[in-house]
Amino acid sequence: MRLKDKVAIVTGAGSGIGRATALLFATEGANVVAADINNSAVSATADKRPAGAKGKIMPATADMRRAEDVRTLVALTVRKFGRLDVVFSNAGIMRGGNVVDLSERDWDDLFAVNVKGSFLLGKHAIPEMKRSGGGSFILTASANSFFAESDIAGYCATKGAVMQLTRAMAIDHGPDRIRVNCICPGWIETPMSQPFLDENPGGREFAGKIAPIGRIGQPEDVAGVALFLASDESRFVTGAAYNVDGGWTAGMTRAIALI
Ligand SMILES: NC(=O)c1ccc[n+]([C@@H]2O[C@H](COP(=O)([O-])OP(=O)(O)OC[C@H]3O[C@@H](n4cnc5c(N)ncnc54)[C@H](O)[C@@H]3O)[C@@H](O)[C@H]2O)c1
Repeated sequence: MRLKDKVAIVTGAGSGIGRATALLFATEGANVVAADINNSAVSATADKRPAGAKGKIMPATADMRRAEDVRTLVALTVRKFGRLDVVFSNAGIMRGGNVVDLSERDWDDLFAVNVKGSFLLGKHAIPEMKRSGGGSFILTASANSFFAESDIAGYCATKGAVMQLTRAMAIDHGPDRIRVNCICPGWIETPMSQPFLDENPGGREFAGKIAPIGRIGQPEDVAGVALFLASDESRFVTGAAYNVDGGWTAGMTRAIALI
């Protein structure tokens, strides 16, 4: 019950990291609004709520690119549960290509979901968190916030931006007792990473080998860190980036030697 009496919004909650986190937050006592652009996926998340969970999960359909959807999502949360303590801005998309290959539309979409979505959520959620006496705002960045990989130029650019947005929000809203941190996952087994893992020859083996811990991450590995950042245990942590990558980025030269 590390989130007893807390109210949380989790975006991208229809799948992968967002789903695992919504389920864990509810298990730990939070009332969770689980938001996703995919209506049936987020309803399925609510259906998976563990029997013993003390918190509720309310599914909500929202496109994080759209200001009106985000405003409504926050308003709905406060109307339903009376306050807002925790936000996990996690919805994200991946589009491949270097700057020559990547279409302008894909570039715009990457920034609209991965960066503008967090801006809009901050704009509408921070005032409510302030009214609730403070809280924890968590963003999903990436190992690609630290270093680039080939043929995902737009995605790398968005994740660099997410890390700087985290720091900027942390210094602006610290005085209101709102902590802002980001999580930087390495290879995590979700529908987003599935094409690389399963369609590239040797992809799965490679992703497991580059982490000193010796395996691909699971969504629950990230959810555990989100729980720590959401809970009062991290009350003096803000503006930080937490790598959840099995040690991959700690030793890039080691990873290169394995290729
Ligand atoms: N899986 C990895 O290896 C990995 C590594 C680093 C970072 N990440 C980041 O983790 C986050 C979660 O990714 P995941 O791996 O769980 O992927 P996923 O594809 O399983 O989940 C992403 C969810 O976001 C939702 N979504 C997409 N566009 C949306 C929009 N406009 N509005 C609302 N919801 C939208 C999707 O419907 C989906 O349910 C993303 O920000 C991603 O960039 C993932």
